[in-house]
Amino acid sequence: MGANIIFVGNYKGGVGKTTSVLNFAHYFSNAGKKVLALDIDPQSSLSEILVSNGKDRTLKEFPEDKTLNYLFDMEIMKIEEYPYIEQKLGGSLISRYEKGGFDFVPSSLFYRGDMGLDAIAIKRMKDHIQYLSILKNWVDTIIDRYDTIFIDCPPSDNLITRSAFLMSDYYIIPTILDGLSTNGVLHYIDTVNKIYLEYCENGEDQRIAKYVFGKKPELLAIFYNMIRGQVDYSTAKADFEREICKLDECDQNIILNSEINNYIDIARSVQSGMVSIEKKDFEHLTAKIMERL
Ligand SMILES: Nc1ncnc2c1ncn2[C@@H]1O[C@H](COP(=O)(O)OP(=O)(O)O)[C@@H](O)[C@H]1O
Ligand SMILES: [Mg+2]
Repeated sequence: MGANIIFVGNYKGGVGKTTSVLNFAHYFSNAGKKVLALDIDPQSSLSEILVSNGKDRTLKEFPEDKTLNYLFDMEIMKIEEYPYIEQKLGGSLISRYEKGGFDFVPSSLFYRGDMGLDAIAIKRMKDHIQYLSILKNWVDTIIDRYDTIFIDCPPSDNLITRSAFLMSDYYIIPTILDGLSTNGVLHYIDTVNKIYLEYCENGEDQRIAKYVFGKKPELLAIFYNMIRGQVDYSTAKADFEREICKLDECDQNIILNSEINNYIDIARSVQSGMVSIEKKDFEHLTAKIMERL
């Protein structure tokens, strides 16, 4: 069967993508699921948290050959210069996050000095299926070990982000409820749809892309994060829901009726690589997400 691949994204920064991935990975693994978390954000926040709370070291000290940067570096070299070398990485890329009971592959800002994932995506990758399928080809070699793979996405669009969209089965959008969030979420859904169309529909190249990547990722859920107790959100919610429900793929169920409050304990726990013991918001939310799979 293989794992469900789920990316967590929003082009807006600071809405809780990284926080969500950490919480989802914890609660899925608590529920007995085998989980892998991939950090494709060049800022490497999730990576920094997992690496520093695992064996008390920083990302700078982490072995370079256990990062996504290494995967892309080697596979790009193979495509361009050494096509006869076989895929070798497999499980050697994976690290264990004991505290959370799940596995992960980090990205590093410091790979070979300053070759972060954004530098690799911009300077070394071409907009071609061979490059876009690097992550997917590697994931295929380890997918049977997992039930769920979460991808922490950056708030930016590059070829690595695109390749993650294309290979995923589902996506989840965390959002805050300020005046701009509606357009941001609508734009994000539209972008995912357009990327899939651009690569996987019509035309000859698209036929092979569809063969490689399969179906369009399905929007699994949108949820509200950082809700403040003293604020009245009823108008903001009604506006948001009205706009979202206009989309073909959405009805009001797409917005989870479980929401995440703004709690300092949630933020603090994430910094120490854990879920909040006190606040159960993410636990309840994750249970609802699990029901949808
Ligand atoms: N529910 C929450 N309550 C309090 N702080 C939160 C909550 N969710 C996220 N944060 C904090 O908000 C900031 C941005 O969250 P983060 O997950 O890094 O967002 P993103 O990955 O979308 O940029 C972080 O400092 C994080 O600790
Ligand atoms: Mg983040």
